[in-house]
Amino acid sequence: MSDLSMDRMVDVETFSLEDASTEQTLRPDAWSEYVGQEQIKKNLSVFIEASKKRDEALDHVLFYGPPGLGKTTLALIIANEMNSNIKVTAAPMIEKSGDLAAILTNLEEGDILFIDEIHRLSPAVEEILYSSMEDYRIDIIIGSGPAAQTVKIDLPRFTLIGATTRAGMLSNPLRDRFGMSFRMNFYSHEELAKIIMQAAEKLEREIAKEAALEIAKRSRGTPRIALRLLRRVRDFAEVADETQIHHERTKYALDELGINSHGFDEMDLRLLKLLASSNGRPMGLSTIAAALSEDEGTVEDVLEPYLIANGYLERTAKGRKATRATYDVLNMKCVNADGTLF
Ligand SMILES: Nc1ncnc2c1ncn2[C@@H]1O[C@H](COP(=O)(O)OP(=O)(O)O)[C@@H](O)[C@H]1O
Ligand SMILES: [Mg+2]
Repeated sequence: MSDLSMDRMVDVETFSLEDASTEQTLRPDAWSEYVGQEQIKKNLSVFIEASKKRDEALDHVLFYGPPGLGKTTLALIIANEMNSNIKVTAAPMIEKSGDLAAILTNLEEGDILFIDEIHRLSPAVEEILYSSMEDYRIDIIIGSGPAAQTVKIDLPRFTLIGATTRAGMLSNPLRDRFGMSFRMNFYSHEELAKIIMQAAEKLEREIAKEAALEIAKRSRGTPRIALRLLRRVRDFAEVADETQIHHERTKYALDELGINSHGFDEMDLRLLKLLASSNGRPMGLSTIAAALSEDEGTVEDVLEPYLIANGYLERTAKGRKATRATYDVLNMKCVNADGTLF
């Protein structure tokens, strides 16, 4: 990530130590506190109940979607509901197949293994994962050369929960081995407001409903951003010696932070202006990334999904395009190549 994006208020990928620790306190650990994603909740609770009745490990689960939408939280809730131990790791931490073998052989019956950023596993590690997911056994090669031996190790029945921002980058064999996969959706303003009110209560802060909605509107549909903005607004209220976080202070604070009322931040606006300036011609991902000095992955996984979901950007075979809504929101007119208005 570039330095610029490190400073983004609504950036969801990089977060500070303060964020990480309050995220722990604010993280729901039961369904009752997990707002939204109704279809996912409904399905998961059925599967959890069924596997508990059969006294079996839950089938492997995959969550995919943009960062900050509650994938890790869901994994922890599942562990809680299943009364299972959960081991949390991320693909970049599993460098060699031996690392994964060590993790797997240390699991106990019914344990959950959560692998974040699962699209980043190396092919050799992925290979080990296949047989462990399917047959609960792994083949390890011990020694090298003519003396090398393959040892088969049986594993306990465990549940793998994978999370990724890039479902498209998962290999087919890996994707096929998940019994369930769920796409995370952006949250509505009402849902985000509920998450904000709930968090304010945990932080022992009173917040007005309109203030919570104001933060919600500017949070790119993302709980992680909503919670971060809540903490910043709370700082403004604290400095002003206000015990309740009210609407006026919230608007003032968010404006000071440079978050506009569509939830766009500076980086979103730069992307939209770039697209709008091409007068209806599609633009390639690499061109966009270069113009914004961002890497392509960040543009594709962090910036674009929210804009697409809200109709401000279109992905076509020839590249990315501005939409009517893009021009409207930027207060710009689009002139086609033939001089007509778009
Ligand atoms: N549905 C939800 N209800 C309440 N809080 C949520 C919800 N989804 C996410 N959060 C909060 O947002 C933060 C980010 O969620 P997280 O699970 O870490 O996202 P992801 O793993 O998808 O990047 C967490 O601190 C969590 O408390
Ligand atoms: Mg996560």
